[in-house]
Amino acid sequence: MSEEMPKAYRGLNSLKVSSVKHYTDKTFSFTCERPESFRFRSGEFAMIGLENGDKPLLRAYSIASPNWAEELEFYSIKVPDGPLTSRLQHLKVGDEILIRPKPVGTLVLDALIAGKRLILFSTGTGIAPFASTIRDPETYEKFDEVILTQTCRDTKELDYGKALMAEIASDELLSEVVGDKLTYIGTTTREESDTMGRMTDWLRDGRFAAATGAELSAENDRVMICGSMAMLKEHKQICEAAGMLEGSNSEPGQFVIEKAFVD
Ligand code: A2P
Repeated sequence: MSEEMPKAYRGLNSLKVSSVKHYTDKTFSFTCERPESFRFRSGEFAMIGLENGDKPLLRAYSIASPNWAEELEFYSIKVPDGPLTSRLQHLKVGDEILIRPKPVGTLVLDALIAGKRLILFSTGTGIAPFASTIRDPETYEKFDEVILTQTCRDTKELDYGKALMAEIASDELLSEVVGDKLTYIGTTTREESDTMGRMTDWLRDGRFAAATGAELSAENDRVMICGSMAMLKEHKQICEAAGMLEGSNSEPGQFVIEKAFVD
């Protein structure tokens, strides 16, 4: 950032984009360089964006890469008239994005008490923080089983999650750490598929228990939830009905929630 940059740009880092991948006409991911000083816990989010006159255009984005990775990865929705995403979707390798180097968030292992299964419920791009969590070895030190669910409208939107699973399986070191502990369940609600329906319905009608071997339990399960406000509310109700208490960084509990930010 040059000396003449307006005040609002102070403290921001400018990072070069190293790859861009479009998954559907609604979603894409990109990676950028990671400054050595940029630390975060898997599952946290940072403010990122683009130059925009006197004031940068910044939004909260979950960091999708694990905390050991050399690059930072983000997974984003494209909103045609969204102030930031309408521009961000045109990113190319070599372009620069802005980032405030102070990641925060509640979807972190520290906000959960010990348990046996870690269940990560997401819809749409709400999978982003969990892309970080499932690639963090600490997750598998703390839990015997990790279940990631993602509900999307169409099958194509599940490609990012499927690609993540394939990437983990092909990574020699990570696949050894993960072993057979990780399960991904992708469901669709609008397009016909083998696994249809909202995960909230699966939880209520027994399909979740059938697919994972056990019902949601306050004793064994710890839960992270990321998606729209309506989705968070319903999942929260289901967790509370199972006797779970919401956790936070200062007071760890049995489940934690966070809105999938950009819309
Ligand atoms: P549905 O198609 O039945 O609305 P969106 O694109 O609107 O953010 O939705 C992403 C996915 O989340 C869709 O599959 C949608 O299902 C699902 N969804 C929307 N609201 C809820 C909710 N309250 N609980 C669980 N899943 C939801």
